[in-house]
Amino acid sequence: MHIYPSILTIDFSKLEEQIEDAVRGGADGIHVDVMDGQFVPPITFGTPIIQALHSLTDLPLDIHMMVVNPDRFLEDFVTAGATSITVHYEALDRVDTTLDKIADLGVKTSLALNPETTIEKSYPYLHRLDQILLMSVKPGYGGQSFIKSSLDKIHQLKNKITNEGLETVIQVDGGVNLKTITSVAEAGADIVVAGSVVFQPEVKPSESLKLLKDKTRSNN
Ligand code: DX5
Ligand code: ZN
Repeated sequence: MHIYPSILTIDFSKLEEQIEDAVRGGADGIHVDVMDGQFVPPITFGTPIIQALHSLTDLPLDIHMMVVNPDRFLEDFVTAGATSITVHYEALDRVDTTLDKIADLGVKTSLALNPETTIEKSYPYLHRLDQILLMSVKPGYGGQSFIKSSLDKIHQLKNKITNEGLETVIQVDGGVNLKTITSVAEAGADIVVAGSVVFQPEVKPSESLKLLKDKTRSNN
């Protein structure tokens, strides 16, 4: 299973140092939470931060758009260095049209579902998605508690993907930490996003990543 740190809680005054340490610690990609103040209350960052990350690392840049009408930003994000773009099912009028645009730009397509959105809503799109992001907290903030019913959703989605013979990757985002990562891995996640557990004051990202990885190797 892969671990993508989310920079939502990173100390931006130490962006370079923190990213380099996360890379040394074995991060598999960098998760970038773009919030627009409409789909979710906070506003975060956009193209310049993606550009900066692109200049700092060769790791995949996984853009999670918590944004209404995301189509207007897709091209800029891809030019800036995005590797995959996630859009929210709940934010879209025409899911297929937006996914077409992402695919046409040559990056990986990903669809996110909020905790209250049922897995079945993703079924019409599964065959054409590189990734599904299951939110295991309400989107908008780092440091929230993992919603336990997400485990059933991961399991159900994993079965569906396997039964259909698809290769869609399951990403789980929110509340993943040393206590929850093992059950998330066992339920069938291919990628977990880990935010506040990786980027926190006084602890090096590489140390947190090592502890998280240890949890997915053993059963403790
Ligand atoms: C929340 C974001 C998450 C967030 C996760 O809306 O999508 O990516 O950074 O943070 P933690 O790991 O602290 O729950
Ligand atoms: Zn996210």
